[in-house]
Amino acid sequence: MDFTLSEEQLMIREAARDFAQNVLKPGVIERDTNMTHPTEFVKQMGELGFMGLMTAEKYGGAQMDTLSYALAIEELSKIDNSCSVIMSAHNSLALWGLEKYGSDEIKDKYLPQMTTGKVIGAFCLSEPEAGSDATMQQTSAEDKGDHYILNGTKNWITNGKKAGAYVVIAQTNPEIRHKGINAFIVDATWEGVSTGIKEDKLGIRSSDTSSVMFQDVKVPKSHRLGPEGFGFKYAMKTLDGGRIGIAAQALGMAGGAYELALAYSHERKAFGKPINNHQAIAFKLADMAMEIEAARMLVYRAAWLKDTGRDYAQAAAMAKLYASEVAMKTTIEAVQVHGGYGFVKEYHVERLMRDAKITQIYEGTSEIHRMVISRNVIKGETYIPMS
Ligand code: CAA
Repeated sequence: MDFTLSEEQLMIREAARDFAQNVLKPGVIERDTNMTHPTEFVKQMGELGFMGLMTAEKYGGAQMDTLSYALAIEELSKIDNSCSVIMSAHNSLALWGLEKYGSDEIKDKYLPQMTTGKVIGAFCLSEPEAGSDATMQQTSAEDKGDHYILNGTKNWITNGKKAGAYVVIAQTNPEIRHKGINAFIVDATWEGVSTGIKEDKLGIRSSDTSSVMFQDVKVPKSHRLGPEGFGFKYAMKTLDGGRIGIAAQALGMAGGAYELALAYSHERKAFGKPINNHQAIAFKLADMAMEIEAARMLVYRAAWLKDTGRDYAQAAAMAKLYASEVAMKTTIEAVQVHGGYGFVKEYHVERLMRDAKITQIYEGTSEIHRMVISRNVIKGETYIPMS
């Protein structure tokens, strides 16, 4: 097996690392405390090509592979998980499906503006009563011939208030349950679209999460994504790729916390020597390093499966589940290594610990991922194709 990264992959990782460490880091604590949206940095991410990282060059994208995308997300997530989730939701949950399933008219209209970051995308699936059970969509899209009328409320929408384009999942024919669901692309400027307050969250605090409401919104038929009734599958396929992004985010948080803990363990002395000369700390560092490597293999492999046209749903679920557990455990241990200093904002690890929790919740809770994986395991599909 060849684990060598290409020149291009090394270059994007370096660019993301440089941006995170030198541009995002200086104000990240203040943005987190004050819930300040990183608008200026999103603009810069657009200039760097991060806002259309996997989209075709003809639409202004960087046309890179999923592994490059994971590497970039990983580096940003060592520092600023608000920026990395904005980038992840925009690329994986909005752009990917638009490019794959949108008509030429839709792609020409939306992609060039989105790949530069001028228009931010959001994915509207979750509802007050439809979270893990995504088939229970209450948002309705009534078929009126040449258009649909959209009504309903979506919850916990990343980029909710800042988005200019929403991918919306809605029910057209409840009698046939998930087979009656459609996906649409909806402009934020259209009459009847509004947003709720920015949520005051435990972590990823500067990113913008809100409800999005649709009241009698007229959606032209040309804005449906994919054939009639494809909306649930559209959402599931979108989430498969999105989970690679969140797995890479979790990997980055774990890596960031580990790097901080390791550096601190060299500086901090106790009982006459650096704390990493005590096994109590050295063994924690060993576990962190090993678990991060294991998570990295799962995340990169899921990206590689997607890039090579193989089935990646199961691999993405495994990567997201495992990497999010490693993120949670590693960030808690990194706080522990720092002792009292870990409990204050200045040392960055408490923020990473707060941020880590969301990776066990969004784009499918850990329980949903265990359900998806166990269904395949029980069917005997434990093997993920490598050839
Ligand atoms: N790809 C393609 N099709 C899929 C699929 C996939 N990965 N998973 C399921 N499907 C299809 C099935 O084949 C089935 O199709 P048929 O009826 O034609 O056979 C159909 O979808 C229904 O599948 P299931 O019977 O498996 O559906 P279910 O209700 O039992 O389970 C679920 C589905 C996996 C639990 C799903 O509801 C799910 O993933 N829930 C979690 C939702 C989620 O992740 N929400 C997060 C919101 S987005 C977010 O957090 C974004 C953000 O802002 C950061």
